Amino acid sequence: MYRTHTCGELRASHIGQQVTLSGWVQKTRELGGMTFVDVRDRYGITQLVFDLSKNPELTESARKLGREFVISVSGSVIERQSKNPKMATGDIEILAHQLTILNQSEVPPFTIEEDTDGGDELRMKYRYLDLRRKPLQRNLELRHQMGFEVRNFLNKEGFFEIETPYLIKSTPEGARDFVVPSRMNVNQFYALPQSPQTFKQLLMVAGYDKYFQIVKCFRDEDLRADRQPEFTQIDCEMSFVERDDILNVFERLTKHLFKTLKNIEFDYNFQKMPYDYAMEFYGSDKPDIRFGMKFCELTPLAKGKGFVVFDSAAYIAGINATGCAGYSRKEIDQLTEFVKKPQIGAKGLVYVKYEPDGSFKSSVDKFFDATTLQEWAKAMNAQPGDLLLILAGDKIQTQKALCELRLEMGERLGLRDKTKFAPLWVVDFPLLEWNEEAKRFFAMHHPFTSPKPEDMHLFDSNPGAIKANAYDLVINGVEIGGGSIRIHDKALQAKMFEALGFTREEAEDQFGFLMNAFRFGAPPHGGVAFGFDRFVSLFAGLDSIRDVIAFPKNNSGRDVMIDSPSAIANTQLEELFISLVKPK
Ligand code: AMO
Repeated sequence: MYRTHTCGELRASHIGQQVTLSGWVQKTRELGGMTFVDVRDRYGITQLVFDLSKNPELTESARKLGREFVISVSGSVIERQSKNPKMATGDIEILAHQLTILNQSEVPPFTIEEDTDGGDELRMKYRYLDLRRKPLQRNLELRHQMGFEVRNFLNKEGFFEIETPYLIKSTPEGARDFVVPSRMNVNQFYALPQSPQTFKQLLMVAGYDKYFQIVKCFRDEDLRADRQPEFTQIDCEMSFVERDDILNVFERLTKHLFKTLKNIEFDYNFQKMPYDYAMEFYGSDKPDIRFGMKFCELTPLAKGKGFVVFDSAAYIAGINATGCAGYSRKEIDQLTEFVKKPQIGAKGLVYVKYEPDGSFKSSVDKFFDATTLQEWAKAMNAQPGDLLLILAGDKIQTQKALCELRLEMGERLGLRDKTKFAPLWVVDFPLLEWNEEAKRFFAMHHPFTSPKPEDMHLFDSNPGAIKANAYDLVINGVEIGGGSIRIHDKALQAKMFEALGFTREEAEDQFGFLMNAFRFGAPPHGGVAFGFDRFVSLFAGLDSIRDVIAFPKNNSGRDVMIDSPSAIANTQLEELFISLVKPK
């Protein structure tokens, strides 16, 4: 028998019992004639003790154990002389009678501790060692539990989990597809699904009115902390529903997850914030509402007063950093540097200190008198002791930069507390987004999203102004999920493709299967998909989704452990009738 107990299980109540444990050697140390070995498995760590005076041969072999050796030990549970209150098993140790080395280990490239100095590249290369670390185990356990609770909840609500194919058809909308050549269909390719979108809609046509799936999705896009080329969605679709029916079910699912996994209860309905409002006051469609500091537009108050930066700007707006009037020159300089970073793109930062004595000190004193600054302060709800931070320029770019500045200030002021959660729905997204390069509209969510019925008449006159019946779940500034009510009418779907610049033939070629299905009785339907990795990493308090994924890719989309992607054999290429062209 390899083990009677796990390495995290034994307590004072087990004292006197004969036990067998198996696991990995965390470390060994010697003290007088005693050798202590910490043995670890995923449940915890237990201290073994070998006594040279009682069992010299066994102690001798224990002394030779190296880190990460796999061992099995039998012995008796005894009370520990110096108890370790930090360890769950800290009251006891095992006086070893027998030791078997099940497998030796080379010296690992980094030590398996809570925190490692292994560095990212090394951790990824030896991910199986990295995964032995407690923080990673905690993340994967959380992921398992969340998946389990999602299934539990949706099963009780009458949802079926139905798998959809991974080898599907390439479509040019959305992100770039990963493609897979077909050997049996020469010179033809499958695409890996960016999401099961069209299949879940077909399941609605098929009458499976409550579908879900915890499913892998694949997108060939630039990677970031919250983006992986393959990631997992909690994907859902429902029939005979309106927007609020869907939001209701998935708000309850969200609350269920918070309650069961974090013991957090929300006794209110999540706010439904229109997209236009989110952009105007937070400069983002995923506002972090753990804190205020909303934007205040100053264009009418600040333009036309002879300050050329403002006079030439289409948009002037600021935030009120409450209580920050005492910021030093150095702190203001740091903020200025921050907004001028290329990825933020502001040209400069204007500040107004509303001093505690009621006077003003600003970087634009030359152009604006105290009365004007007082007007700004009033508009921004500022009190003496506050600091106004103002940006100006092109509207969209300035909103984006001010959004980053707001988040930075939130961070500096400790307002982005990872143990606090502020969920909301962002609703009424624009249906279409103009792309200057392609000189055509793209669907903001996807081409199957229904316009709001009251905006339908704008299709011919002003398509850019149409709002969609689409929504996102946002928590702490992270887009956790998104969805929409779908178009279920063949004629409207054709109109949508037309607005996206598809010819009839292109629409037929790419999405004919869906339009055909709509000829046979498509019910009204809609759905949502949550980014599972993002949800887990939010619950785990992490900034990146990588550590909630057992085997993630690095920022170049590589798996450095298995060394993929990699070249394939010429015979494989020949079978596929593929010849490679070297990039110039
Ligand atoms: P969407 O494209 O908004 O919607 O994706 C849904 C959610 O999936 C997560 N997500 C990602 N997570 C990690 N890495 C990525 N590369 C990545 N891309 C997206 C986000 C996002 O909110 N079919 C529609 C849903 C629907 O309409 O029902 C869809 O895929 O958390």
